[in-house]
Amino acid sequence: MRSLAGEVQAVPPVWMMRQAGRYLPEYRATRAQAGDFLSLCYNPELAAEVTLQPIRRYSFDAAILFADILLIPQALGADLWFVTGEGPRLSTITSQADFDTLKRAGEIHDHLAPIYQTVRILSGELPAETALIGFAGAPWTVATYMIAGRGTPDQGPAHALKDENRPVFEALLNRITEATIEYLAAQIDAGAEVVKIFDSWAGSLKGDDFTNYAVKPAATIISALKARYPETPIIAFPREAGDGYIGFSKATGADCVALDNSVSADWAARHVQIDGCVQGNLAPGHMVTGGAELVTETRRIVKAFSGGPHIFNLGHGITPDADPDNVQRMIDAIRG
Ligand code: CP3
Repeated sequence: MRSLAGEVQAVPPVWMMRQAGRYLPEYRATRAQAGDFLSLCYNPELAAEVTLQPIRRYSFDAAILFADILLIPQALGADLWFVTGEGPRLSTITSQADFDTLKRAGEIHDHLAPIYQTVRILSGELPAETALIGFAGAPWTVATYMIAGRGTPDQGPAHALKDENRPVFEALLNRITEATIEYLAAQIDAGAEVVKIFDSWAGSLKGDDFTNYAVKPAATIISALKARYPETPIIAFPREAGDGYIGFSKATGADCVALDNSVSADWAARHVQIDGCVQGNLAPGHMVTGGAELVTETRRIVKAFSGGPHIFNLGHGITPDADPDNVQRMIDAIRG
């Protein structure tokens, strides 16, 4: 919380994207108990348990609510399921008729009530020194899944809808934007101390599209939340934005910008951290490969960002093949 407020700390706080997940045996056991991934997301007791597992094991400085960005499409009325070994599948939105089947933003809360309950449990159980992060997907990223019905390497179907039927594309983005404001506000009401907006596919938006569909929706969400919760810091993650990272926090009102590992820490310190707090950006692969390079890289990133406010994190989620001991080595390299 102090880094998000702009304080420069000798030892940066640390947490990891996907820190509760398949690289941990205790997560796999709890997921088996829940039945499957979505049942785990909608089971407040077990979702709180998996959120806490990495905090107990590593004492990270922040816990991130265990849920998924695709719960919003489901709350809006889309079908959602996960195919083991492949990823998410959804019913698709590609026409005005499909769009007309969606619920209104204000109608999502019954469906998402278990998620708010998870936040309330965590808010009660987390140690005072551990920040609780709520989150949602950014409208563009969520839309890419809703339009294609699955993850896509180049977001082709979403770009096609944008080019061929802009009114439906923009109506969908607006609906997701409104629902995201509702969803994040409810998470803050339930006890989230920080919220993060994941725009995992921001990198495929170029030029005006980046301004219109990555910057503007983030700015809309952030200004609506800031009007109601001026004290709640917001982290934005326009993944693979490249030069789009420059000025992103000023343009959107975000308190912190999360950096992926395709940008160098030295470059980001000069061009992004000058505007405020940054988060990142160790390549997740180091959690698999470990060794001396993990330590050298971790220290290099800490040093590169030591002149300004910084939260240590990976550049993207930790992968299932990561070695849990490497996470501890990373933490030791930061705190040691
Ligand atoms: O970071 C955390 O620990 C909090 C929980 C969280 C999950 N997903 C749990 C999850 C968060 C913040 C997310 C965000 C998310 N979900 C994003 C944006 C961030 C990113 O990684 O780019 C996206 C694009 C999704 C959509 C999604 N969820 C996909 C594409 C998949 C399948 C691919 C994969 O990595 O398995 C998921 C499943 C998912 N979400 C898992 C977890 C722990 C794995 C489920 C399991 O098998 O247990």
